[in-house]
Parts: sequence; C-alpha cells; structure tokens
Amino acid sequence: MPEFRDVLTLARSFIASHRRQLHRWMLYSAAESIWRFHRRSGKIAAAMLFKAQWGFDTPEWFDARLSLLYPEKWFTDGSHVSRGSIIGVLPIGGSILDLCGGDGFLPFYAYSRRASQVVSVDYNKFAHDHAVKNHSKKNIKYLLADIFSFDPGEARFDVVALRGAIEHFSEPDQLRILDIAWRALKPGGWFCGDTPANPRKDTALLVHHHHEFAGEGELRHLLERVFPDVQTTVFQSCETVSYMRDELPTPENIRTTLIWRCRKPAV
Ligand SMILES: C[S@@+](CC[C@H](N)C(=O)[O-])C[C@H]1O[C@@H](n2cnc3c(N)ncnc32)[C@H](O)[C@@H]1O
Repeated sequence: MPEFRDVLTLARSFIASHRRQLHRWMLYSAAESIWRFHRRSGKIAAAMLFKAQWGFDTPEWFDARLSLLYPEKWFTDGSHVSRGSIIGVLPIGGSILDLCGGDGFLPFYAYSRRASQVVSVDYNKFAHDHAVKNHSKKNIKYLLADIFSFDPGEARFDVVALRGAIEHFSEPDQLRILDIAWRALKPGGWFCGDTPANPRKDTALLVHHHHEFAGEGELRHLLERVFPDVQTTVFQSCETVSYMRDELPTPENIRTTLIWRCRKPAV
C-alpha cells in the first residue's frame, strides 16, 4: 500500500509537469460553465424583455440587445445584410447621421467603431434614454428631437442612415426626409437604409407604419425623385414579417427587406 505522503508527492509532481495543461483545462471548464449559464439566462432575459416591451402595447422601436441575449432567435440573417450595406460605405474616420436611430445599438456596436463622429436623432424619449443609458460613447451624440425640427447643417456627413423607419412616415414626409439627407450629405456621400416590403398592402405591418412599399419598384421611384444614383436590392430573410407571432416563415409570411443606397454626386 503506498503511503499518503507518496501519493502527495506523486500528485505534486504530476501538477508540476502538467501545469500548463491543467491551467488551460480549468480556464476552459470555467468559461464553458459561464457560457452555458449565460445562454440560459440570456434566453430568459430576452423573453422577459420582449414580453415587457411588446406584450402590453406596440413600441415604435426595437431593442436590438435581444440579438445578443438570445441569438438563436434574434440574430437574424436579414439584419446583417441591411447593416452591412451601411457599414460598407462608411469611411474609417468618417461621419454618419443616423435618422430615427432608435435604441442606439448600431451606433454603439457598428458605426462608432469606424466613424469619428456619429449623430443619432430620435424623438421617442424611451428609445433616447435607453440609447444614452446603454449605448453611450465619446464619439456618439444622441439627440432627442423630431427629425423635421433638427438641422443637420450643410454637407457635413459621409453617410446618412435611415434603418427600418422610412415606412413610419407619409409619402410627402418621406420626400422631406430625402431632402434632409441630400442637404446633410457631403458630395460623394451615401444615403442608406432599408424597409420591410408589404406586397399586399391590405393591412400595415405595424400600427406605426404610415406608408409602406409594395416592392423595389415603388421604393426606387421615390428615391429617384431626389437622388440621381440609386441602388436597391431585395433580400428575403429566414424570419417572419411579424415579431409578434412565434411561427416559422412560410411563403405568405416571410420577411422581405428592401435595401437602398443612394449616392450624392461627387461634383
Ligand atoms: C423601427 S424604429 C428603427 C430604429 C433604428 N433605426 C433601428 O434600426 O433599430 C423607428 C424609429 O423611428 C423613430 N421616429 C419615427 N418618427 C420620427 C420622427 N418624426 N423623428 C424622430 N424619430 C422618429 C421612432 O421613435 C423609432 O425609434
């Protein structure tokens, strides 16, 4: 029978010769446990937040933290395509005006990494306070204002973004927004955004939507009234058009996003 002292010596020498492997194993095991906890708790927090925000009334803005908390549900293919379209033309060190910026998720996690100056305007106090509380950074300015009472100045921005918001305005107001974007853009700058298509248009996709677009043609027609260089794409994502129902996408309810980029001539 080996004595206790021999076992201890053996254990010590094993630890000494396998220190790196043991250290690595401990880090992995601890991190994996935290990850499993984070996944479960994130899913619960996402369900609670969604219920609190959408279960009692219909907010005009979306809390994109859900995509971090419960990516299996909210980290959608469609959101990446529309975001990429904006990030792809935003110069490093440039400036971006985010009209109807909502929760500040994109200014914080995407735009402010590249741009030296991000200005985000939204008139909703809840969205504004949420953005300031959760997504503040030195190079982001959040303004609580109606976009029509805000003066962006002349030719100050490399990019003007309007994500998931043009459909919240009437057609005459959509034209006014195009004029604001045109004026705010530097020569050669880009006006970018996206909107969910509603081909049937019998009922609005959300109570806050005032003028939705049936398809790419209708959107292009509007944009071309102000911008000479208009690029549009249509993206069908594997998610449903409504957040409210927990159902799988079918040909009838699949989400189609119309994405645009318009360039102000460089002169
Ligand atoms: C669906 S959210 C989109 C938010 C954000 N762009 C995003 O990608 O998550 C629409 C936003 O438009 C804002 N909005 C609507 N009309 C506005 C107006 N006249 N002035 C400023 N913000 C407005 C709402 O408050 C809301 O935050």
